[in-house]
Amino acid sequence: MIEVAKRLQNVEEYYFSKKLREVALLKAQGKPIINLGIGSPDLEPPFKASMVLQDSLADEKAHQYQSYQGLPELREEIANFYCRQYNVHLSAQTEVLPLMGSKEGIMHISMAFLNKGDKVLVPNPGYPTYSSVTKLLEAKPIYYDLKEANNWQPDFSALERLDLKRVKIMWINYPHMPTGSKADNKFYDKIIAFGKRHDILIVNDNPYSFILNNNPISILRYQDAKEVCLELNSLSKTFNMAGWRVGMLAGSYDFVSAVLRVKSNMDSGMFYGIQKGAIEALKCSDMWFQSLNSVYHTRRELIWELADSLNCTYDKEAAGLFVWAKLPPHIKSEEFTDMVLKEHSIFMTPGTVFGSNGEGYVRFSLCATEEIIKEAIARV
Ligand SMILES: Cc1ncc(COP(=O)(O)O)c(C=O)c1O
Repeated sequence: MIEVAKRLQNVEEYYFSKKLREVALLKAQGKPIINLGIGSPDLEPPFKASMVLQDSLADEKAHQYQSYQGLPELREEIANFYCRQYNVHLSAQTEVLPLMGSKEGIMHISMAFLNKGDKVLVPNPGYPTYSSVTKLLEAKPIYYDLKEANNWQPDFSALERLDLKRVKIMWINYPHMPTGSKADNKFYDKIIAFGKRHDILIVNDNPYSFILNNNPISILRYQDAKEVCLELNSLSKTFNMAGWRVGMLAGSYDFVSAVLRVKSNMDSGMFYGIQKGAIEALKCSDMWFQSLNSVYHTRRELIWELADSLNCTYDKEAAGLFVWAKLPPHIKSEEFTDMVLKEHSIFMTPGTVFGSNGEGYVRFSLCATEEIIKEAIARV
């Protein structure tokens, strides 16, 4: 009998990995499934990015191992992007690390900073990977509440009351997934002060700042941020390149080089053509963001209509790639999503996937065409 490692006992297969198998089965049985569950952009990446990827295949070193730190031109372009879009100045040599998606960054950061038994502050609701990676490393997630009444921001006095002795990392993520809530200047100042006061590494996971958001913010633009913060970012949603797997880590040399020590032992560089394409994407002008958001704007109006027809309510000020909708009182998220899947063949995500504070909510993705969303409205 070959047993799996003990660390797997507390970690389940990722919700979507399981649920999408079930949805695929329904599809195979002929059910006309509409998938509003997952945030995988269906729009095209920047045309030039795809062209450069194709053309790069003939380059001399295209198929060799690549640098662990990524091409210098890619790091340079990431630094330019941060300067242009967030007014944050980064050294391309020492403060930037390209990643194969920000999801892998969550593991690498955790491996670089956590010892067995350490504690990690994880948002509830929040992206499930923060807690599963924490558990895989035999550290302990400490869930901090985000509540609608507080605009899904942490309650700082409640945070201060926690036993913070072994807390090494705190994950934050604004614009927040799944709720779409945005943070303001005061929040960033407070969270940096909190990190400094308790020696906690604050990691801002920032993949949604360009989606339906007029004011993209990087935590690194705030005073003293580099002393205690790292930021993850991603091309997945910003440039419709989720399957390319390109993300980035930004922060001080000390923190970034610690993560590089882990990462350079785990992969052998990112495929050359993908890096070349990513460079082109990062150069996109503001026109790119305008046209992307005009599509999401129209889709969101339709999703609001769908949510209305299901008697749900939502915040029209939210940002990001999802509509986070509140169910009528006393209705359970999973019962509701299972019912809608069964009766209307529409798949959406129950809020409980993101933690107990997601009970009573569902998440609709904007990654479906207007025609598909209209069809969903017609079915309901
Ligand atoms: C909050 C959050 N962080 C990270 C990721 C991972 O993104 P990437 O494609 O860059 O790995 C996602 C993806 O859905 C996300 O919602």
